[in-house]
Amino acid sequence: MTTHAHQETRILIVEDDQGLAQLLQEEIEDAGFKARISHTAENGLAAAQTWMPDLIVSDLRLPGADGLALLRQIQSGMSENTPDVLIITAFGTVAKAVESLKAGAEDFLTKPLDLEHFRLSISRILEKRRMREELSRIRTLLDADSAFHGMYGRSPAMLALFQQIRQIARADGPVLIQGESGTGKELVARAIHEESDSTAGPFLAVNCAGISEHLLESEFFGHAAGAFTGATKARQGIFTEAEGGTLLLDEISEMPAPLQAKLLRMLQDGRIRPVGSNREQQINVRIIAATNRDLEALVQAGDFREDLFYRLETFSLQAPPLRERGNDLDLLTGIFLLQFASALNKQIESISAHANDLLTRYRFPGNIRELRNTIERAVVFCHEREIRIEHLPPRIRRDIENAQSKSSPLLPNGIQIDNNSLPSLEEVERRYIRHVMTMVNGNKRLAASILGIGRRTLYRRIEEMLQP
Ligand SMILES: Nc1ncnc2c1ncn2[C@@H]1O[C@H](COP(=O)(O)OP(=O)(O)OP(=O)(O)O)[C@@H](O)[C@H]1O
Ligand SMILES: [Mg+2]
Repeated sequence: MTTHAHQETRILIVEDDQGLAQLLQEEIEDAGFKARISHTAENGLAAAQTWMPDLIVSDLRLPGADGLALLRQIQSGMSENTPDVLIITAFGTVAKAVESLKAGAEDFLTKPLDLEHFRLSISRILEKRRMREELSRIRTLLDADSAFHGMYGRSPAMLALFQQIRQIARADGPVLIQGESGTGKELVARAIHEESDSTAGPFLAVNCAGISEHLLESEFFGHAAGAFTGATKARQGIFTEAEGGTLLLDEISEMPAPLQAKLLRMLQDGRIRPVGSNREQQINVRIIAATNRDLEALVQAGDFREDLFYRLETFSLQAPPLRERGNDLDLLTGIFLLQFASALNKQIESISAHANDLLTRYRFPGNIRELRNTIERAVVFCHEREIRIEHLPPRIRRDIENAQSKSSPLLPNGIQIDNNSLPSLEEVERRYIRHVMTMVNGNKRLAASILGIGRRTLYRRIEEMLQP
């Protein structure tokens, strides 16, 4: 994924020892890269300017100008795609080699050359270069503000979602956004609002969880003066406040049944009645409901009104989980890295190949939110120029280690079964619940949604597990 005009990786060898130069050329070509040889620094510089290599492997001592001079000229003379430089030096000139590192060489190796070290050094430099190019590509994306209303994504799944948002925004009627925790449902709701004709109106969001039924009702629909103790004055509800705009009902699954009925009525005839009032009000508000639970399953279990579900579901959107977004993981990692590094005033240029690999293999049950938090944490803990695995949370490192150790292929990573003592289904269930709870860092809401059971059921299971 380089930004270069040429596709293949080019390595220029600047070495006056013909035999060594040829050996290195073979070594480089065996690794699948293109190689060329120059025997002097002067020729090397000319080749660098015309052939545009990604990396220059240069001897320090050369006839005429030396490797250090070449390095300096390359760094001052080439602004775009400056090649990286690897210095090779004879034993005894280590002080000079250190000087070359200070002047910007990526690495130095001493003669006699250990080919294994040579290969490692080259692949490390090229990987770092790839990351740097990736980040600069991402930086231009950031500069160009190429996000779709704050959402970054290039994967087919996200491009399809953006397209759906544009279409749905222009239509009328309620919208249902479903998707796992942290997939950006709130951003989707805002995007719908911003793409719609009611952008001039307000965008309000209210969380249906954790508010008592009674309060929720007056909160939503407002109340008349004297409607209940303490209600001395009439008050507008959120529906009225959102007039002419969009109202996001977050965690719609948690809405108490009586309110579900009122909401359905509102959706059908566009009217609400404040608590304690006998007059109905006509309102014009786009309703968007969001949930990270399987609403259809809740309907089947009798925990959510079927008619309301069908009314909401007319325009329904699915925010895809991070693991279904392909390369977006790299993109988002880079975006968050740049954002947090600049916010925290840190010079971080890349993520090590190893750390990147770990992120790629991790499942991210908490999706974009979890990735964002992970990168923020890494940036805080990182005091070098590169994020490495030790900057990633133990949870992620552990998860991958577990995945690597032998576990039954039928079970998720992290649950091990000893063939000599096959556990009962109940025992496996207990272990699995425990596994999921660790994966989500004890977040019961998230655990319940992954396990596909109600939160109350989860509480009960956990209590049972705690009993001796
Ligand atoms: N595509 C994206 N690009 C950049 N940031 C994103 C993207 N998607 C989500 N985020 C960020 O991830 C975090 C979680 O997003 P959001 O709160 O919208 O998730 P959610 O689906 O509502 O989660 P929950 O179900 O837990 O309420 C926010 O900080 C949001 O800005
Ligand atoms: Mg949310």
